Amino acid sequence: MSLNPPLKDFHNKNVWLIGASSGIGHACARWLAKEGANLIISSRREESLLDLNQTLTNEFGVQSNIIPLDVMSLESVEKAQAAVLNHFSTIDLLLFVSGVYTPIEAKTLNIVDAENMVSTNLLGPIRVLNFLIPQFLKQGHGHIALVGSVAGYSGLPKSLIYGPTKAALLNFAESLYEDLNPLGIGVHIICPGFVKTPATAINDFKMPSLISPERAAEEIGNGLKKGEFETHFPKEFSFFLKLLRILPYPIYFWLVKKFITQ
Ligand SMILES: NC(=O)c1ccc[n+]([C@@H]2O[C@H](COP(=O)([O-])OP(=O)(O)OC[C@H]3O[C@@H](n4cnc5c(N)ncnc54)[C@H](OP(=O)(O)O)[C@@H]3O)[C@@H](O)[C@H]2O)c1
Repeated sequence: MSLNPPLKDFHNKNVWLIGASSGIGHACARWLAKEGANLIISSRREESLLDLNQTLTNEFGVQSNIIPLDVMSLESVEKAQAAVLNHFSTIDLLLFVSGVYTPIEAKTLNIVDAENMVSTNLLGPIRVLNFLIPQFLKQGHGHIALVGSVAGYSGLPKSLIYGPTKAALLNFAESLYEDLNPLGIGVHIICPGFVKTPATAINDFKMPSLISPERAAEEIGNGLKKGEFETHFPKEFSFFLKLLRILPYPIYFWLVKKFITQ
């Protein structure tokens, strides 16, 4: 169901894509370039962004702009957003993909990895929006899309910290929607299941319903085109997890143990 104004046509739309250097973000950059968007691509690794830019030029004849940033640093985010607003007079889409995933369970809980994940996955988008919400309010239009995860729906094995960062991001996006939708600004949360990227290469278990980053980018783009608030995929896995979270806990824990714990 379309809860946002649909973003039907990406042609000549100004898109700031954060987390473009790898995995899902990299595939989104290619999808958006193919659709004709004007792209600013960001993340920490400038070399990878330069490679991506070369790919976009070779494949689609597109020249994107590179603005490196570290979403863990408020100073870096402030500098980057100033550079973005220097380049784009309006932002049609902010697509925040950056995230880190370290599998953690009770016996491997450590504050260093925990702070890193909270700072990137949850505080990262908040740092960016700290500067960009005034811009969206001034424009009175545009879209904010945040990449969460189905791991945010409910507690899962090895997601002791990652899961809560994505659960909080989902909650944040819901509140953001309530505040900004009446003002004409689209808010989107994207909840992928398992996607084959460098982040998930460390998993030592068989990932159910694993999909390619290209398929993920297509799902994300089509969800934005439809104006969905939440875009979740692949459906056979995401609906299963949605169902899990409404079941009574004895059944929930039994199903997780049977189907998800390896
Ligand atoms: N793969 C999956 O199965 C899956 C499932 C659900 C949700 N997700 C979510 O999808 C998003 C992308 O994940 P992925 O699997 O594509 O992982 P990935 O290949 O490791 O890519 C992660 C991206 O985040 C960027 N990033 C990390 N820390 C950053 C920082 N401090 N500042 C700026 N950018 C930073 C990385 O760029 P630099 O290193 O260049 O900074 C990279 O572009 C994440 O939010 C992840 O939680 C992934």
